[in-house]
Amino acid sequence: MNYWIHGYNKTEMNRLDELRRRHAAADEGGGPERRERQHREGKLSARERIELLLDEGTFEELDKMVTHRCRDFGMEDQVIPGDGFVTGYGYIHGRLAYVFAQDFTVFGGSLSESNAQKICKIMALALKNGAPVIGLNDSGGARIQEGVLSLGGYADIFLRNTLASGVVPQISAIMGPCAGGAVYSPAITDFIFMVEKTSYMFVTGPDVIKTVTHEDVTKERLGGSLTHNSVSGVGHFMASGDAECLRMIRELLSYLPQNNREDPPRRPSTDPVERMDAQLDTLVPQDSTLPYDIKDAIHRVVDDGEFFEVHEHFARNLVVGFARLDGRAVGIVANQPAYLAGCLDIDSSVKGARFVRFCDAFNIPILTFEDVPGFLPGTAQEFGGIIRNGAKLLFAYAEATVPKVTVITRKAYGGAYCVMGSKHIRTDINLAWPSAEIAVMGPEGAVNIVYRRELAAAADQDGVRRQKVEEFRERFANPFVAAERGFIDDVIEPRETRPRVIRSLRMLANKVDTSPRKKHGNIPL
Ligand code: HXC
Repeated sequence: MNYWIHGYNKTEMNRLDELRRRHAAADEGGGPERRERQHREGKLSARERIELLLDEGTFEELDKMVTHRCRDFGMEDQVIPGDGFVTGYGYIHGRLAYVFAQDFTVFGGSLSESNAQKICKIMALALKNGAPVIGLNDSGGARIQEGVLSLGGYADIFLRNTLASGVVPQISAIMGPCAGGAVYSPAITDFIFMVEKTSYMFVTGPDVIKTVTHEDVTKERLGGSLTHNSVSGVGHFMASGDAECLRMIRELLSYLPQNNREDPPRRPSTDPVERMDAQLDTLVPQDSTLPYDIKDAIHRVVDDGEFFEVHEHFARNLVVGFARLDGRAVGIVANQPAYLAGCLDIDSSVKGARFVRFCDAFNIPILTFEDVPGFLPGTAQEFGGIIRNGAKLLFAYAEATVPKVTVITRKAYGGAYCVMGSKHIRTDINLAWPSAEIAVMGPEGAVNIVYRRELAAAADQDGVRRQKVEEFRERFANPFVAAERGFIDDVIEPRETRPRVIRSLRMLANKVDTSPRKKHGNIPL
């Protein structure tokens, strides 16, 4: 293009050339060879990722000209505009989102002081303008050549992650390495996505572990996506590749408000509000010791059967995730009788607590499906601190002021009855199916304790036990005692769950509830 024609003078043309040269150098990143290696490993480049994440053509890059300021180790000769972090904003489903992506082709995506400042800049904008921040991580960690300047940069980011927590949604995708203290920025954010085979997170890698504890462990086993999604619970979502990961982030955001002052977006649904589902009437087996899949109930109740599960592979005895009812986002928490009989244990309590707190922070109503025989017994649980960990879930439910609706499908026993969104801890509407059993403990356990002497003295122990168990079941293992007290607002036919829950949520749409003034509570961490 001939710029002279458009009236530019020579200096201006040189500036334009200079501008284009800098843009090209930033776009080029670490060069074609390193980009090729990135592709060979099944990873997209930072810019390709941003393109897939955002609505087409909406990315506005900031700080593309920023360079590192390191003048040691020959770094002065290796200056790339942008310094390997791509930061800016764009739109997802037409809604504003801030994004940063680490470019592994530039110094292994390592964090320089300048890069930290770039991230802090978009985080400040996100807080002021009330929009989510998404971080696409693919980095060798602190820029080794910059020493403490890089460490300080991380700490600056950690502070901003913490201050933004509960104000705007923060989402991290791990799309390559994320090691050392660098893991703590994603860890503070609300949701972590990991990509199968190409991502890993650990505080200390296999080599250090070998030296210190003499354990042999691969990178994948130590900190791969399966480990963090199923064992540690650090990861919330597992994607088969970069593209799927980015699509999943877009889907997650469709359930979330932009910030803590907004309600979640509403998406009109063609699924009738009054839709009944007769299959629900037979979902719970007659024999209360038999399992069933609570996800069947969830799918049958929510709009269009769409359920976006969080932490799908971790602590599977509790199911959590997002769905819509009447077009409005809800957070669903459900005991899973098909796994560990739906018992609450340490992992499921922490999983549930974090999810409930997220929903409460972002004005997302909580719908609970309850079928819980109690807390999981055993020394592993007691020694591991089921007391303080179970208390987290209780605390989170009690503290939550968003609309809360609970449906007891079957068991609601013991302390777990209190914890799982009971009326006593500020749940607004509590419904129960006729199959509900609400008591201090199951009939068998109760009879063994209450009638211990009679049983020991009886000639026909089994016969007496059977009779007492039946009496107990008749008297307590039902929803009616609780309903007579008003702890249950109504006993409903399972088929009417969808309309009854939607009517409850509509009634609660303008709910305002408060807690005593305090700096913050002291959740039993
Ligand atoms: C500067 C780095 C770097 C880093 C990688 N590179 N990590 N440059 N600082 N932290 C550069 C390499 O020199 C190389 O440059 C390019 O990135 C790609 O690295 P490779 O080693 O070739 O890649 P790969 O074999 O895939 O291995 C990736 C890796 C490894 C596992 C991440 O690079 C590595 O172990 N890096 C160091 C990780 C680390 O210890 N970081 C500090 C952690 S502590 P060329 O020019 O050859 O392409 C930390 C503290 C955070 O981060 C503080 C929070 C409080």
